Amino acid sequence: MCGIAGYAGTREAGPILIDSLQKLEYRGYDSAGIAVMDAEGRIRVAKAAGKLSGLIARLEGAYPPGTTGIGHTRWATHGRPSDENAHPHLDCHGDVVVIHNGIIENFQPLKRELLAAGHRFVSETDTEVLAHLIEDAIEGGATLVDALRAAIGRLQGAHAIVAMARSEPGVIVAARVGNAGGVVIGYGDGEMFVASDLPALLSHTRSAVFLHDREVARVTAEGAEFRDAEGRVVEREPQTVPYDPVAAAKGPYKHFMLKEIMEQPECLMDTISGRALFDPPGVSLDDLGAPMERLRAVSRVVLFGMGTSMHAAMIGRAYFERIARLPAEVDNSSEFRYRDPVIDENTLVVSVAQSGETVDTLEAMHEAKRRGALLLTVCNVPGAQSTRIADGTVYLRCGPEIAVASTKTLVASVAALYLLACHVGIVRGTVGPDRVRELLEPLALAPSLLGEALRREREIAALAHRMHKAEHVLFLGRGLQYPVAMEGALKLKEVSYIHAEGYPAGEMKHGPIALIDERMPVVAIAVQDGTRDKMLSNIEQVRARDGFVIALATEGDEEVASKADEVIWVPRLRGEAGAAALLLPILTVAPLQLLAYHIALWRGCDVDQPRNLAKTVTVE
Ligand code: M6R
Repeated sequence: MCGIAGYAGTREAGPILIDSLQKLEYRGYDSAGIAVMDAEGRIRVAKAAGKLSGLIARLEGAYPPGTTGIGHTRWATHGRPSDENAHPHLDCHGDVVVIHNGIIENFQPLKRELLAAGHRFVSETDTEVLAHLIEDAIEGGATLVDALRAAIGRLQGAHAIVAMARSEPGVIVAARVGNAGGVVIGYGDGEMFVASDLPALLSHTRSAVFLHDREVARVTAEGAEFRDAEGRVVEREPQTVPYDPVAAAKGPYKHFMLKEIMEQPECLMDTISGRALFDPPGVSLDDLGAPMERLRAVSRVVLFGMGTSMHAAMIGRAYFERIARLPAEVDNSSEFRYRDPVIDENTLVVSVAQSGETVDTLEAMHEAKRRGALLLTVCNVPGAQSTRIADGTVYLRCGPEIAVASTKTLVASVAALYLLACHVGIVRGTVGPDRVRELLEPLALAPSLLGEALRREREIAALAHRMHKAEHVLFLGRGLQYPVAMEGALKLKEVSYIHAEGYPAGEMKHGPIALIDERMPVVAIAVQDGTRDKMLSNIEQVRARDGFVIALATEGDEEVASKADEVIWVPRLRGEAGAAALLLPILTVAPLQLLAYHIALWRGCDVDQPRNLAKTVTVE
């Protein structure tokens, strides 16, 4: 999704802006641009459709001169990706320049009004109206910051906006309205930074202020001044953000996606360490921050998320039912708010969002909060918006996830939800000490077994070669493996552009079976978790229709192997019956991630930045 960068200081702004935008490439985008202002207030813009590398090539090292500037990577919403539609956008005279994340829902009437008043438009974007609104306000005598506030007052929707004007050399203004992604102001030594996301700042500073809803900042090399919606000055103290930019490096891996798949054992270990206790057995979620008396009073659980995080939430739903013995349901964040959901103060709502910035999830959280729920979130990014809305957070400890396709945060989210369900069960007295031991022992084994599962990469790459020309692939699973089947299908769709569906295996004979023929690979998750025998029947049904069966089977399960065309072996997870099966999704999802990755490689796809996708989706 769109990325924002800004710089005010004493160094040349152009290279700094490009560098910051490169740090935001993981968000996904289809055009990029910068605007730089010199000491006299002259503004020069350079922008291009396509990747940043195209813009850099076009610049040929000749950056627009000046020490104040703004930059943007755009993911098209209004108007196709083109040079004209790329941000930044200028007003009629080239005196005001704007970049923007979000959608101006009422841009058509505003544009008509501005056209009638004589403004000229050069793009198809909604954003351009902002440059003209600010231009009008400045011509009417307003300062830049007041002009921005006045413009915001005319907009519908959620926005993150950054602007400069010739009338105020050395000044950048920034505003946040609603949940169209964040705006962060970074404090350097005699220089200041603006960004949509922390990674753009972290090589320069760790001292930052996150703009609140409807707050406006006026930023110069010397510092920042903040105002609320009414224009009153508000005091904001910068906070130190703990984040490691080195972790964002690709290291020895060809792609971030592969690096992140391979990092999973470590992420899992980090996410559970110090939280799963073994002597005596227990769960410590000290950083959760949710009041105990409210946790004790919980009578049901509602979980939501989007995409991969929704699949983690589906697995989490089963944990709350089976471990904490609480009625639990799950939904897409984007559907939750349209249900007029039944929520009260004894409902525990758990949002899952690795970025903590997905707008559908943030809106669902606001809805849950309005209805009085106890609201917890599972999140990977310290200080993300979701963590600021929730009553408590279980942080994943994965480090930045850069590849657009989520992998390591799914596995860590599953572990976090497992711990949370155990914790709630313990607090409510439904999980006693013996049961805690049973539940935690297999969790302790999971990281090393996950490492074993990942060691099968070469076999999976060979299988991927057999499958890479398929046009459709069906993924089947039952129980806890149904969300895994959905996740396997999502990964394949995202990175290889092969049409894939994840189905509950029992549903297959009620329709999808009509699709099966010798050209339809079917991935059947038939590990030993209590659903295996029924999965064997489903495999037989596929074989009877000449389908090509790839089975995920527990190591040594020759019966499943004998029925399949290909087998992906999954390590056996020992533990008390039931408890180990609960954690099997951690072991079964990893081979499916590798399968999707290698199929995409054989097909020559852009694995880390698949077409049309954004890492963080900040529009509804
Ligand atoms: O940051 P979030 O976890 O809220 O993101 C949710 C989805 O956008 C995300 O999982 C998406 O589906 C990924 N591309 C999946 O690989």
